[in-house]
Amino acid sequence: MARKLYIKTFGCQMNEYDSAKTAELLADSHGLETTDNPEEADVLLVNTCSVREKAQEKVFSQLGRWRELKERKPGVVIGVGGCVASQEGAAIRGRAPYVDLVYGPQTLQRVPQMLNEVEATSGPQVDVSFPEVEKFDRLPPARAEGPCAFVSVMEGCSKYCTFCVVPYTRGEEFSRGFEDVLLEVAGLAEQGVREVTFLGQNVNAYRGRRDDGSEADLGQLITYAAAIEGIGRIRYTTSHPLEVNASLIEAHARVPQLVGHLHLPVQTGSDRLLGLMKRNHSVAHYRAIVGALRKARPDLFLSSDFIVGFPGETQADFAATLALVRELNFDHSFSFIYSQRPGTPASELADNVLMAVKKARLAQLQALLAAQAKAFSEAMVGTRQRILVHGRARRDADELAGRTENNRVVNFPGPSTCIGQFVDVTITAAFANSLRGRFAGPSRLEA
Ligand code: SAM
Ligand code: F3S
Repeated sequence: MARKLYIKTFGCQMNEYDSAKTAELLADSHGLETTDNPEEADVLLVNTCSVREKAQEKVFSQLGRWRELKERKPGVVIGVGGCVASQEGAAIRGRAPYVDLVYGPQTLQRVPQMLNEVEATSGPQVDVSFPEVEKFDRLPPARAEGPCAFVSVMEGCSKYCTFCVVPYTRGEEFSRGFEDVLLEVAGLAEQGVREVTFLGQNVNAYRGRRDDGSEADLGQLITYAAAIEGIGRIRYTTSHPLEVNASLIEAHARVPQLVGHLHLPVQTGSDRLLGLMKRNHSVAHYRAIVGALRKARPDLFLSSDFIVGFPGETQADFAATLALVRELNFDHSFSFIYSQRPGTPASELADNVLMAVKKARLAQLQALLAAQAKAFSEAMVGTRQRILVHGRARRDADELAGRTENNRVVNFPGPSTCIGQFVDVTITAAFANSLRGRFAGPSRLEA
């Protein structure tokens, strides 16, 4: 019987992507099959993100539960990957000596080898280095699961915002080769993928080497990917305002496959806080970029990330954030309470906004953001939308579900031959987390 792998993932899309790749690697190298049941697993991995939550604590409580499994079944291998592994390194084994493998986001391609070493009883293996070139070179070829796929195009971040651990846990920016990415996209398209999302912590800082030695940016990557047969939709996430260049703005104007939806984190509407966060731009600069993008793409839906309760945030700072949200009108956005991260410059500032104040501000901001997103959903009722049908509806297997360009789920009755295709639907109702639609025919912009 095939041996089994259980991976628990905490965190963002980048972490989900890394977990999926790790599972593929171990399927190829060791024939491990993934399972949803930790009890029957032979290899247990926890892949974590430490951007916000008390990630360390989550990891150790997870490990505590797995320790009992290992006591019952001593051959079980336990590993820790991701940002927490990268931050703690060998110290993880200090607190949890039964851990066999510790690997970072940049060494997951070495996990099969590390597992061999563990199983040859060479003892526990720890590798949280940053051999950046290697990761992209040694990942297995992309496998499609359904019509949508993530494609990681760059790793790490060199922006060093004062509150953020990513540059320390994932290392500096490193971009994957231009042709390499395009080959992966073409391979996915051949397997039926119709939508790709280019992923990176700072994805629009992408500067990939072409085979001729020149450099290509994200705008160029999008333009070339859109020319690949079968690719009908392109997204990218997460981007930084300072990396929105003319080429990217032009891509928004020229490339119909690039969605009219952009996630562009601003964090705060206060210039004073933007400075303390070392975002290196002003509110006016953000406003100007959004203006240029909306000029290029008048129907653009904009979403963002916000942090409330950054050290020293005053009522006036927070009011400036609310004012910016009212002015720019955001679609479904993320907002977080500031979380002090060990080793970051901001962790040296007193975390002096009272928790009750942070919570009240978060609630106020979230209410405003939710109202804006709701108004956008309601305005879609009666319009015709191109959706990519990804499968059957979750609640009713007789119905289908697809996603609009602005990433809303639409449930609608329709023929199952639509699965994996673009179709047009007319939106008939808007709910908090989804829309309802009526099949209106094949998509007008067929890929
Ligand atoms: N590249 C993106 C950008 O331009 O800002 C950010 C990627 S970051 C991993 C995702 C989001 O997590 C950030 O936009 C920020 O809102 C949030 N975040 C990061 N560190 C945080 C912290 N210490 N406390 C609260 N939120 C944080
Ligand atoms: Fe973090 Fe700022 Fe980079 S939020 S991921 S350091 S752009």
